[in-house]
Formats: sequence, structure tokens, C-alpha cells
Amino acid sequence: MSLIDTLNRPLRDLRISVTDRCNFRCVYCMPKEVFGSDYQFLNRGQILTFEEIARLAGIFAAHGVQKIRLTGGEPLVRKGLPNLIKMLAAIPDLDLTLTTNGALLAQQAQALKDAGLNRVTVSLDSLDNEIFKAMNDVDFPVEKVIAGMDAAASVGLTPLKVNMVVKRGLNETSILPMARFFREKGYTLRFIEYMDVGHSNGWRLDDVVSAKEIIQIINREMPLEPLDPNYRGEVAKRWRYQDGGGEIGVIASVTQAFCGACTRVRLSAEGSLYTCLFGVKGHDFRELLRNGATDAEIAERIAQVWNKRADRYSELRSEKTSGLPKVEMSHIGG
Ligand code: GTP
Ligand code: 5AD
Ligand code: SF4
Ligand code: SF4
Repeated sequence: MSLIDTLNRPLRDLRISVTDRCNFRCVYCMPKEVFGSDYQFLNRGQILTFEEIARLAGIFAAHGVQKIRLTGGEPLVRKGLPNLIKMLAAIPDLDLTLTTNGALLAQQAQALKDAGLNRVTVSLDSLDNEIFKAMNDVDFPVEKVIAGMDAAASVGLTPLKVNMVVKRGLNETSILPMARFFREKGYTLRFIEYMDVGHSNGWRLDDVVSAKEIIQIINREMPLEPLDPNYRGEVAKRWRYQDGGGEIGVIASVTQAFCGACTRVRLSAEGSLYTCLFGVKGHDFRELLRNGATDAEIAERIAQVWNKRADRYSELRSEKTSGLPKVEMSHIGG
């Protein structure tokens, strides 16, 4: 059974944040001035248990969800994550994946694979340690992230994708070195336009390096040609190297909005459901779960939320909307 929103978009993807905590402090996501030592993260009782997450996931899958992506904060800091993956892997016909900063991936890759995870996407913003450390703001070295990627690829968590957020003045000099390196490695690199998520990162349109600019920079050295999407509504626009040496993607949420085919819903760690990455307020499912709602009642609530959905924030974005209050990225995982 599939659910359709007011703009005729089916519900297909569920992104589940398993924690609001992270071991990085990326300047564009969890700046230290806001997420400092006195920041109040969610406590144990506030976040959904694995049983609660798996129950909801099963209901979503029964109503059209085909892909589940685990996010955070940083999902690998949630204790015992492979146990959750085992529960989710029991749901039939699901693409089960995870987005991570890679810091803990080398040590967890095998356990994640054994639990039934299909593939991973790893974030990395530069190959230059000075730039990368200035961006993650916790002095974390590039080499360890790459070791995490290699460990994941070697246990078969593939196809492996790499996400690079590009912010002007910070890492646009890393675009070409990253393209060269990951082309050689055979991992699909995707460049993400810097977005105005949350209200902590002080976003300005001038800080965005557009997908067009990124493609031009790479194309000058390594000629590219566009590829068809893998599926309708794919977030990344795909390009391949004309000499046959692999592909890259650009995620142009700012300059080429893709709301028209957005089939994604997001569940925060405390069980709130958001129908847009730029949502202000979620719909509380934790209370339903903890007050003894039946599966049918929960399904009914999901249908109500999705049927009313009219979100298309990226299509409406302006300097004015960027200052509005929104949920933090680290809360719903990007
Ligand atoms: P696959 O194609 O299955 O690998 O998934 P994906 O491209 O959705 O994966 P991923 O989670 O890596 O998404 C990449 C990034 O695109 C996210 O981290 C966000 O920054 C951005 N993104 C994903 N979904 C949305 C969305 O619905 N709206 C906006 N504006 N950005 C999104
Ligand atoms: N703009 C674009 N991408 C972002 N991410 C986090 N914050 C932002 C932002 N402001 C990316 C991360 C990661 C994914 C989950 O989202 O780098 O790759
Ligand atoms: Fe952590 Fe990812 Fe946010 Fe960086 S972008 S602070 S790794 S959640
Ligand atoms: Fe979907 Fe909202 Fe992103 Fe548009 S801005 S693609 S509606 S999550």
C-alpha cells in the first residue's frame, strides 16, 4: 500500500536519526559555539529504543517505504547499533543503508555488514588535513576516515558513496583533489551545496558554491557528461567521466531544487516525524508508541501526516526563509 501527499508524491524513503550526538563539530552543522560542553542532548529515556524504531520501520515498510537510511548526529556513536540493524534487516525487500562521518567505521564495518547493512555513505569534506580539521573542528585526521571507507568497502558495504559539503572560502580548493582521488579509488563522490538547515550555522547565499561551478571546475581537467538518474527523484544529479573512469554526483538543493519528486520522511531520535529537512515542528510518534497504540492506529497517523504534506522548502527558499526557525541537521540527520 502506498501513501500519496498533496503534491502527488509517494512515501518511499525513511531516514531514521538514531542519536542527536556526534563526535565531530562540523562548522556548518554543529558549531562549537552552539553545541558546546553545556549543550543539552537528549537523554536515554527521551530517545526511541531499538524495539520502538524497528516497530515503526515495519509499519512504514508496509505502507510503501523501500529504503531506510540510518543517520544521526553520528549513527555509529549509538551503542549496539548492529542490534538495530539486525532487526531492520529482517524487513523484506528493503535497501538498508547508513550515512556516517567514518570516524568509527573501521572498527565497526564487519559487525555492521554481519548484521545485514547493505551499504554506507561516508562524509568527507577535504583530503587536506588542515582544511578537514578546520571543518570537523575536533582535530580528526583524513587518513582515519579513509581507513574507515576502505574497511567498509573490503567487507562489501558497497556501492560506497562519499559526501562532500562545499562551502565557499573553506574547501572549494579541495574539489579537484577529491575528484581525482575518489575516481582512482572507485567510490562515487557527491558534492553537496551548502544548505541553510537549522538555525545555528549562519548560512549566507554567498557561501554556496553552485553545482554548476563545481561541474565546471572538474570538467576543465576531466571532461564530464550527464547521466540519467538511477531512479525517479534521485537526490544527486549524476555525471560520468567521458573517458569511462567512473562517476560523480552533485546535490544541488539550493540552485536546482528537487522537491517535486521528494519521497522522504525523517524520524528524529526522540520519535518525531518530519516531512521536510527544513521542517519546524515534527509529529510526535513516541507518545503514540508509549501509550499503547496499535499498529493500525500508528499507520492511520502516518497516513494522516503524509496525506496533508505540502512541503517544498527548497523551491521557495530565499534570503528571508533562511533565517526562519528550523530543526537542526544534527537532529534529523540530513
Ligand atoms: P542514495 O542515492 O540512496 O545513496 O541516497 P541519498 O543521495 O539520498 O543519500 P544521502 O543521505 O547521502 O543524501 C545526500 C545528502 O543530500 C544528504 O546528506 C543531504 O545533505 C542531502 N539531501 C538528502 N535528502 C534531501 C532532501 O530531501 N532535501 C534536501 N534539501 N537535501 C537532501
Ligand atoms: N549543508 C549541506 N550539507 C550538510 N550536511 C550537514 N550539514 C549540511 C549543510 N548545512 C551533510 C553532511 C553529511 C550529510 C548527512 O549532510 O556533511 O554528508
Ligand atoms: Fe556530525 Fe555529520 Fe553534523 Fe559533521 S555533519 S557535525 S559529522 S552530524
Ligand atoms: Fe524534500 Fe523538503 Fe528537501 Fe524539498 S526541501 S527535497 S520537500 S526535504
